[in-house]
Amino acid sequence: MQKIHQKIQDWYQNHGRLDLPWRMATDPYHIYLSEVMLQQTQVKTVLDRYYFPFLEKFPTLKALGEAPLDDVLKMWEGLGYYNRAKNLHKTATLVGELPNDINELIKLPGIGKNTAHAVATFAFNQPVPIMEANVKRILCRLHKLKIPNDKQLWDIAYGVVDKENPFDYNQAMMDIGATICLPKNPKCELCPLNDICKGQKEPTLYPTKKKRVVPTREQNILINVYDDTLLLTQRQGKFLHGLWGFESVDVPVCAAEYIGEVTHAYTHFKLICKVYVYYENSPEQMDYFNEEEIQKLAISKVDEKIVKLFLATM
Ligand code: ADE
Repeated sequence: MQKIHQKIQDWYQNHGRLDLPWRMATDPYHIYLSEVMLQQTQVKTVLDRYYFPFLEKFPTLKALGEAPLDDVLKMWEGLGYYNRAKNLHKTATLVGELPNDINELIKLPGIGKNTAHAVATFAFNQPVPIMEANVKRILCRLHKLKIPNDKQLWDIAYGVVDKENPFDYNQAMMDIGATICLPKNPKCELCPLNDICKGQKEPTLYPTKKKRVVPTREQNILINVYDDTLLLTQRQGKFLHGLWGFESVDVPVCAAEYIGEVTHAYTHFKLICKVYVYYENSPEQMDYFNEEEIQKLAISKVDEKIVKLFLATM
């Protein structure tokens, strides 16, 4: 393994994304934040629009814990999977600093096995592997696993991790997965693991691709308008809890005008919203906002699309 580890380290020095800011960070909070943001979001999005503004607004775990949740959600706006922001905030209210023990990290809200391992290795230099999606693919190919289970993958991962330099090794594995061990047309000839990879004759057989059919959900959305202001309410249900949004109705009122539809792809379903506008004469509720005020609220991508559609049809 020593030879392979050396090859991986050499590859990383020559081809790795060494300058990603969270890879140059030493503060465990910065590393933890990046790992949570990167759980379901691409590096480019996190880098371009979210990581730095979030840290500017909440420079420490303490500052994050003291901030109102609404402010945290606002900084998360558009990134999706808002439970991540709520769990980050919850964690910040619970601990003054992050523990370095994996078993303690896992007890914190929103920190699963992989994130605990990532924080342990990247923030505290522990000799443990990570299990990010790209890494999983590499491990499946190394051992020709078509339908792996978690235990198999973690056992393999613990077996190959470079205990001398776990930080660079783990970052390298993600980069190899992202640029070499690609789902389609992997570049095995360039891979530093090709001496030990059992799957390289037919790499794309591993792991078996699941065909996913996502259901479609339809909603009628009613925008109540009063004097250039729109009614938004803060969501109480589990879905998008805490974000502000428009009302969904079974049947729009007769006088409502249909203005078009917006769609959004969530992981588990596709949402189609038919959007109606109703002009109020005398509103009973208080939560009407003008365009500028709406910009200050945390709203979901779908509601942002609905606002855009409304403004375009005015
Ligand atoms: N995805 C999850 N963690 C990451 C990291 N540290 N660098 C790049 N992509 C990642």
